[in-house]
This record gives sequence, C-alpha cells and structure tokens, in this order.
Amino acid sequence: MKLIIAIIQPDRLEHVKEELYKEEVNLITVSEVLGHGRQKGVTEVYRATKETGNLLHKIRLEIAVNDNFVERTKKAIIKGAKTGSTGDGKIFVLDLPECIRIRTGETGTNAIG
Ligand SMILES: Nc1ncnc2c1ncn2[C@@H]1O[C@H](COP(=O)(O)OP(=O)(O)OP(=O)(O)O)[C@@H](O)[C@H]1O
Ligand SMILES: [Mg+2]
Repeated sequence: MKLIIAIIQPDRLEHVKEELYKEEVNLITVSEVLGHGRQKGVTEVYRATKETGNLLHKIRLEIAVNDNFVERTKKAIIKGAKTGSTGDGKIFVLDLPECIRIRTGETGTNAIG
C-alpha cells in the first residue's frame, strides 16, 4: 500500500477529482493548506490567493491505495493538475504499512478501497 500526497493549485481540484473518478479512485482526503515551492511564492502570485507573506493557498490531497492503483492515481493527478506553469504542484508517494476500517475492523488491502 502507498499513501499518495499531492499539493495542487486550488483551481485544479475539480479537474483532478474528475480524472481520479475516471480511474475509479473514489476515496480521497482534501485539505486547504499554505505553501510555496522553489520560487518562494514570488512568481505565481497571479495564480493563487496570497495568504500571508509569501505563503499561497494550495490544496493537499491524500489518497491511500493498493499498489496496483499507484500508477493510475499519479497519472490522473498529473492529467488534472498540469498546466505547464510553475506552481503546478508536486506528488509525494510514501510507503503505507497499515490501514484499518474502523467500522468493520478490516485491515490492509481489504480496508483501503
Ligand atoms: N520539497 C517540498 N517539500 C514540501 N512541500 C513542497 C515541496 N515542494 C513543493 N511543495 C509544496 O508544493 C507546492 C507546489 O510546489 P511547486 O509546484 O511550486 O514546486 P516547485 O518545486 O517550485 O516546481 P515549479 O518550478 O514547477 O514551480 C508548494 O507550494 C508547496 O506547498
Ligand atoms: Mg514552484
């Protein structure tokens, strides 16, 4: 299992969700966060609402998937989020040792999807 964390532009969220649903990735956590990349928030102010100093509003996605869903999830995020401009975002893929569905007690690959 992997935990895929992606930081994207807020205005790409609906596009990313659409691409994820096409790939049958239906479980997702979305947070509003602040951040900046290597431009330190300077050159993409036109794309995003500036919060404080050089921190810009971003969307953080967390998607936990079985290994056979990793590639399609990454591709869907890229398809939905990419414009070719700086600040399009980043994807982090982490190993995920455990997942538990609280209601049923299922664990691991049975619980994740
Ligand atoms: N190494 C990192 N660690 C933590 N957060 C990061 C990192 N890189 C990017 N982020 C987060 O992802 C958001 C989007 O990053 P961004 O797309 O600007 O990356 P970048 O490396 O600056 O690439 P680009 O040159 O395409 O803009 C940032 O605002 C920040 O919140
Ligand atoms: Mg950047």
